[in-house]
Amino acid sequence: MIFCLLLAAFSSPVFAGEWTANVVKELDVLVQSCAVVPCTFTHPKEYHPDSAINAIWHLKSDWKKRIYSDAQRDVLENFKGRTKLLGHLSDGNCTLEMIEIKDHDNGPFCFRMELPTGSIDKFSFVNHCVMFKMLPNPPDPILTHSTAIQGRPFTITCSVTHTCPSHVPELTWNRATTDDVVTVVHKKNRFGYWEMESILAFTPEEKDDHSEIICTAAFFGGRKSQTVSNLYVKRTDNYNHIIVPTVAVIGTAGIFAVFCTLMVKRYRKRIEELQSADGSMWNRMSRLSRRIRSHVSGPSRADPRHANQKVSKGRFPSPKSQPKSCNYRQDPDDGDDYMNAVDNNVYGNM
Ligand SMILES: *[C@@H]1O[C@H](CO)[C@@H](O)[C@H](O)[C@H]1NC(C)=O
Repeated sequence: MIFCLLLAAFSSPVFAGEWTANVVKELDVLVQSCAVVPCTFTHPKEYHPDSAINAIWHLKSDWKKRIYSDAQRDVLENFKGRTKLLGHLSDGNCTLEMIEIKDHDNGPFCFRMELPTGSIDKFSFVNHCVMFKMLPNPPDPILTHSTAIQGRPFTITCSVTHTCPSHVPELTWNRATTDDVVTVVHKKNRFGYWEMESILAFTPEEKDDHSEIICTAAFFGGRKSQTVSNLYVKRTDNYNHIIVPTVAVIGTAGIFAVFCTLMVKRYRKRIEELQSADGSMWNRMSRLSRRIRSHVSGPSRADPRHANQKVSKGRFPSPKSQPKSCNYRQDPDDGDDYMNAVDNNVYGNM
């Protein structure tokens, strides 16, 4: 094992003395879309500029069946115009891009290089070939999100993996609110695979509850896929539905109480006056009625001595009794006067 490690260390690209290539072995590719095959290589010869290196990608079965070549005439009809090298050959970069992928383009494909120094400086890296695994349908984006709480910042992440970093898929959201913030992140996953990520941030409101959040992934070549997430917005604990009516009721009661107090204060005086007027009238009335009774029948019961006098005087009228009868006649006048006075008093206060 140590021997193997040493061998690996000595044959590493640092020494650049070997014909080596590092190519992804298998790649999931989307039919109709594109794929980028990461590839690096080293060779034992001196530095060569890009133009001096003849790079070829060919079918593993036959190095003459070329899917990419600097010379277009050498390229298989099926692959003409669909393949190109992305990196710089002088840097040892043999990355291949293929567009408009057809479901029979599965490979395996191998890299070969030729240096213009002689017949022996040609090398096909047939032990480092790539195989395409065809995806007839695009992968669905994956949605992950935090708990949505009303009025608190909320983020939902949409991500999709792909193998075409030269034409990345576009992620879009169904929400078109200006307050929403969308952050796009493109990152490398394992060798040959990439992840496109879109992070949507917003503050959910009550109206967002039970709404659908849709993330759509549009791949190069026109293929699309989407994932729907139902948003459930947790309400923040508030007691407004209790507080508001309570405050309204207390407020109304308070205003009514103040109004009543003012009304009572304003009219208490007059009510008292009315009551006192009533009282004086009652007193006078009762005094009057007592006086009337005392003149008519009262004396017979109240004062037997008086009754005797009256009887005797009735039988034998004397000139002395005249003033008494005069007094008696004056009494109703007195009463009338009182009544008038009371009436005036009452009306005066109304
Ligand atoms: C090779 O070239 C491609 C395209 O320019 C680039 O994305 C990639 O990082 C390069 N690879 C290395 C190992 O430098």
